[in-house]
Amino acid sequence: MPKALVGYYSRTGNTQKMAVRIAEVLRAEGLETDLKKVQEIEAADLLGYEAIVFGSPTYYGTMAWELKKLLDESVKFHGKLRGKVGGAFTSSANIGGGNETTVLDILKALLIHGMVVRGDHQGDHYGPVAIGRPDKRALDGCESYAKNLASVVKKLFP
Ligand SMILES: Cc1cc2nc3c(=O)[nH]c(=O)nc-3n(C[C@H](O)[C@H](O)[C@H](O)COP(=O)(O)O)c2cc1C
Repeated sequence: MPKALVGYYSRTGNTQKMAVRIAEVLRAEGLETDLKKVQEIEAADLLGYEAIVFGSPTYYGTMAWELKKLLDESVKFHGKLRGKVGGAFTSSANIGGGNETTVLDILKALLIHGMVVRGDHQGDHYGPVAIGRPDKRALDGCESYAKNLASVVKKLFP
């Protein structure tokens, strides 16, 4: 069974709520899924997953340093994550507060690792975003995102 990691940083619980929903749906779709705070993840742990999804609050239009630290440390395994499936999500305070740039910043790191990233022609195109506490729209977005991600994982790692 393919393994997925949902890694997140969250100070006030909003991004965590999204992470929990994404992990629940990945599990329901048949992926063995670990849900972890980024502070609990070592870069070497990333090698053990077929899919890796990272979430962070939007801080000044980008990810929290706790996630960036893990991504920077993952350089030790540069080339070893290629072909895995990647994804990203965020919570910001404001609609135009930099949530898409945050998701794209996370995705850029995953793309540089050679990971496979899927966009969405509907809803949140780059990855789920919530404005503050995730509402129904945001949680439904997390659900459809996780379903789409799981379908890619199952195609690539049958
Ligand atoms: C240091 C800091 C920087 C922030 N920068 C932004 C920002 O650039 N744009 C925005 O919309 N919200 C910003 N926020 C608000 C958070 O993104 C928002 O409260 C988010 O929902 C918090 O997620 P969490 O509950 O998972 O910690 C910032 C918050 C902090 C503490």
